[in-house]
Amino acid sequence: MDRYVVIGNPVAHSLSPRIHALFAKQLGETLEYATLVAPRDDFASAARAFFDGGGRGANVTLPFKLDALRFASRASDRARLAGAANFLASRAGIIEADNTDGAGLVSDLTRNLRATIAGSNVLLLGAGGASRGVIAPLLAQRPARLVVANRTLDKARDLAAHFANLGNIVAAPLDAIPGGEYGIVVNATSTSVQGEPLRLPAHVADARGLAYDMAYGDAARAFLEHARGAGMRASDGLGMLVEQAAESFELWRGRRPATAAVLAELRARRP
Ligand code: ATR
Repeated sequence: MDRYVVIGNPVAHSLSPRIHALFAKQLGETLEYATLVAPRDDFASAARAFFDGGGRGANVTLPFKLDALRFASRASDRARLAGAANFLASRAGIIEADNTDGAGLVSDLTRNLRATIAGSNVLLLGAGGASRGVIAPLLAQRPARLVVANRTLDKARDLAAHFANLGNIVAAPLDAIPGGEYGIVVNATSTSVQGEPLRLPAHVADARGLAYDMAYGDAARAFLEHARGAGMRASDGLGMLVEQAAESFELWRGRRPATAAVLAELRARRP
């Protein structure tokens, strides 16, 4: 049986095995998808053992997305631009890396949430790895402007410079977000996960755009409650997780699963 894993640390609570089991059932494919915990300081040995043992593919989650890119012999443009990989596949003995996170975000925003990126002002909060992973796919949708706002301005400036040739991207400090009606606000900071909710300034919330947190479940709750309270539409990142999984499944298996029923089933089981 073809074997796949999600590698992380911790990884026991990952929803990916459930999502891929639902995809496989939907398409009548026979495969096994499990979790694999790797030592924090030795991703490569765990990944090597898995692929040497005949594993076909892996998703990679925190804290190993940079290690995964280094581990692969080949990488897609979008993985190289993101500087990180959440996807590995073994093809003819060669390990290839890709990054499906940005495509997952774009699919969730545009298809599931019916938000319009093209021609809109988009605000991306944070300038860490999570932001870097989604900038190129966001810019490919041709927003009027992508503002990357970060507590540490220099990190936002570095990202804006890195991606400047791909579209209209500017950096701003988190406490001085420039004016302009933002149709979409994406929280890619780690504040939710740390339990310190981020506050949006009134001029951002007043545009009544979509507030999106790349985290999901409890981690996203405070930011989303704040955004809803300020009059915005709001969504967590569960749809992004399902969409990046669908993109991964298609890359491995050549068939794209439908996501709506899978997302609905996951939502029905969560509070
Ligand atoms: P990740 O890989 O999840 O993006 P990271 O690289 O550590 O994690 O980046 C965390 C992001 O959350 C950064 O943009 C960070 O801002 P700084 O660059 O200024 O550190 C942001 N962040 C974390 N805690 C924050 C807080 N309390 N307020 C605002 N931004 C915060």
